[in-house]
Formats: sequence, structure tokens, C-alpha cells
Amino acid sequence: MTKKLYIKTYGCQMNVYDSERMSDVLAAQGFAPTEVAEDADLVILNTCHIREKAAEKVYSDLGRLRAAGGPAGRLIAVGGCVAQAEGVEIRTRAPFVDIVFGPQTYHRLADMVERATRGQAVVETDFPTEAKFDHLPTATGQRGHTAFVAVQEGCDKFCTFCVVPYTRGAEYSRPAGAILDEIRALAANGVREVMLLGQNVNAYHGAAPEGARGPAGDWTLARLARAIAEIDGIARIRYTTSHPRDMGGDLILAHRDLPQLMPYLHLPVQSGSDRILKAMNRKHTAEDYLRIVDRLREVRPDMAMSGDFIVGFPGESDADFEATMRLVERVDYALAYSFKYSPRPGTPAADLEDQVPDEVKSERLQRLQDLLSSQQRAFNASMTGRRLPVLLERPGRHAGQMVGRSPYMQAVVVDAPAEAAGRMVEVDIDTVNSFSLNGRITGGEWLPTGITTAGDSRIAASAGVVS
Ligand code: SAH
Ligand code: SF4
Ligand code: F3S
Repeated sequence: MTKKLYIKTYGCQMNVYDSERMSDVLAAQGFAPTEVAEDADLVILNTCHIREKAAEKVYSDLGRLRAAGGPAGRLIAVGGCVAQAEGVEIRTRAPFVDIVFGPQTYHRLADMVERATRGQAVVETDFPTEAKFDHLPTATGQRGHTAFVAVQEGCDKFCTFCVVPYTRGAEYSRPAGAILDEIRALAANGVREVMLLGQNVNAYHGAAPEGARGPAGDWTLARLARAIAEIDGIARIRYTTSHPRDMGGDLILAHRDLPQLMPYLHLPVQSGSDRILKAMNRKHTAEDYLRIVDRLREVRPDMAMSGDFIVGFPGESDADFEATMRLVERVDYALAYSFKYSPRPGTPAADLEDQVPDEVKSERLQRLQDLLSSQQRAFNASMTGRRLPVLLERPGRHAGQMVGRSPYMQAVVVDAPAEAAGRMVEVDIDTVNSFSLNGRITGGEWLPTGITTAGDSRIAASAGVVS
């Protein structure tokens, strides 16, 4: 009899990727996914420790799970970054948890489940010497035409507010050959767009594939992107999350040379004040950041930026906050995430004296978010009348409609049949709503009858698909 698996994912895209891989690992053990937590024989909470709210949510969800009950012998597992940070503590607060496992151990899940079934309490939060990626099954569970591919994990930067270097461990880059093999397999399964993932993805420095031409030694992310761009079928490449210090000249030039590299970059800066950036241990100034943005826009004039901000870092004055507002005005973001500083146990900033009162944080966050949302609205509105390349992904809400993504991740709704899924098309944008853009297909790899435009042959050629 097949057993049922329910996974709830918190936090970042790396966790989304990890959850997919956990599901692959457990599929081999006879676990089939379910959408209903109460039906599951195994419930996994794949958790996030980045801010206090995210971490506390896990305990309220655990309480609810327990109250709702489940099949006899149901197992509850807590994975991810809270598991790594709190370890056995989790069982003190929630003794009914059967398995606690860190982000670097889930290739051993089958064994953990087996031990827990025998009634053993399992806690695995070490950083094993073997690389997890070498012990995972090939990513086959890809769903649709876009896929996440982990290329790098962990962080050595130690920003003073951040738990990631502790929860994910030291930086590790997968060998380029293994990544290229995985992407070739995904492309053969119909994947057209890959999102390269890493906590510090642009610090990527993986071993070059055997027999690779060019200079010996590790590959950079730019070199990797150039090789991915040559894989038949791959039409789009994205990567996240980048750090300004690793935004090397070769990566900026890759944005000039590779049409597959999307002109949309998530490049968090956190603050516009040099004093605060220094206290955060970011090791760059606001001016350094602006110079990178300017260079990116020089080589790709259609480059749109996204970012992350923290308000109310200890010691942040009104003047520091105004510097952040000025930087935001100067960059003009397409989208950005902003957070109130949340002191995290074990991080240096949590022990700083001059913590900012919550009312001040709230007031600053409101002002920043007002500015960022007005920029986001203006950015979306500026799409009206533009012709955008769109990757068609899934049926829309109404019959005969398909939804795809613009280069800037906006949902684009067009009239097209379901068979057009996975095609790159050119869309003339007519209207812009709060959640999507609407337009007409005027070219590309699929055309409505009656339209004879040749489309963008460059896109069709680079994608290796004949329409
Ligand atoms: N690796 C990425 C992002 C890591 S976490 C980077 O280097 O930028 C995602 C975002 O959460 C961060 O960019 C930051 O804006 C926010 N964040 C991290 N720690 C936080 C904390 N203690 N309080 C509030 N926001 C935090
Ligand atoms: Fe955290 Fe800084 Fe590393 Fe990003 S670079 S994961 S913010 S320590
Ligand atoms: Fe959260 Fe861990 Fe990602 S703390 S943001 S799930 S790396």
C-alpha cells in the first residue's frame, strides 16, 4: 500500500527546491504526495529561521497538526533551518515530533523514517562530510516547463543579522558537470527555463567539467551560464540570490552576451547607509551597489532590479533610513521585499545595545513599502504597449486562455490552446492589472491562425525549437 506524504514549505526558494527533492527521495520509498495534512502518514514541515515570526509559525502549525490528528502511526518530521538551529530543543517544546533533520541531511531521509517507524526519536543536524547532492536521486520530479536547479548552497559572508551561515553551513558549489547533466535531463523532459539557486549563487565556483575547453580550474557563474545557454531547449536562465560583492565583471558581461539570461536581477542591498552597511558586515558601500546597477543597465538597458531591505537594524538613525529611501529612489525597483529587523539568537547584531523601538521600525517600514509599491505599480504600468517574450506555462482561468511569464516574472494572460504550453511567444501587451498583464500573441514559437509574423527568429533559434 502506498503511504502518503504531506510537505509544508516555509521560507526561501532553496526550501521549495529541497522539498521537491525530499519528495523524490521518499517516492522511492513508496510515499505519494497528498494535499491533505490529516491524511498523511508522514508530515514534513520544511522550516525557515530567518525571522522570529517565521520560526514561531512552526510551533503553532505543529500544535494544529497534533490537534487535527492523522492515520495510526503517523510520523511528524521537522526539517529545514529551524531544525538546524534548534535541534533537539524542538522535541522539548513539541515532544510528539518524531524526526528533526537539518538541510544537509535529507538524502538520508529514508533511513530516518525507517528508524522513526521503529519508535526511535531521530535528530540529525550534523553537517555530513559527504555532499548531499552526490547522494540524491536525479531530479525527475520536475513539474512543468520551468525548474529550480541548486548550484550552490551555504554562505561564508556572516552578515551580522543573518542566521543562514549557521543553518546552511559553509559555501559549497556543485561541480559544473553534474549541473549541466541535470539541466540536459530537464531540457529533455520539456523544461525551457531554469532558475539557478544558491544562498550566494553568484559566489559559485564549481569544478569545471572534465575535458572542458578554456582555462583550467573552477568555473564562475558566468561561465556556467554560458554553457547552460548552449543546451538545446533552454530558452531562459535566471539565478538567485546574489550578493553585490560577487557581482563580477564577467557576470555583468554575460548579461550583455546571453539573450537567455533574463534582464531581471534580485540583488539585495539591505540598506542605503554606509554606516549601517558596515555594521551589517556587508563589506560594500551604497555607491558600490549603485555602480553595479549602472553597469548592468549599461550592458542591458532593459535590466529591471529587485531587492531586499531591512529597516530598524540596531543603531539605524533617521538619517540612515533617509539614505535607504534615497537609494531606492535612485535604483527604481521593479519589485522589492522589505522587513523589520528581527534579532536572531546567536547572531552578533542581536547583542547590540541600541535596538530600534518597534514603533519606529513600523513607521519606517510603512514609508519604505509605500515607495516600493509605487515603483512596482509604475513598472508594471510601463509594460502597456510593449512587446514582451513570454514562456507559456499553464491554462488560464477561462477556456482558451494560457498564462505565461514575462522576463520580469509577471503573469501574462493570452488566448492560446493548452498545446502551446512550453512555447516561447512574443506578446503585445494591451492592459495591465494588479496581478497580471493581458496581451495578444504576435510572434514566436506558436502563432494564432491568421497571424503570419515570422516572430523573433533569434529566440526560436537559440531555443532550438522549430515552430
Ligand atoms: N542570501 C541572501 C538573502 C538571505 S535571507 C542575501 O545575501 O541577500 C533573505 C532576506 O531576509 C535578506 O536579504 C534580508 O533582507 C532578510 N533578513 C535576513 N535576516 C534578517 C533579520 N534578522 N531580520 C530581518 N530581515 C532579515
Ligand atoms: Fe545571510 Fe548575508 Fe549570507 Fe545573505 S550574504 S545569506 S544575508 S549572511
Ligand atoms: Fe529561511 Fe533557511 Fe531559506 S532560514 S530563508 S529557509 S536558507
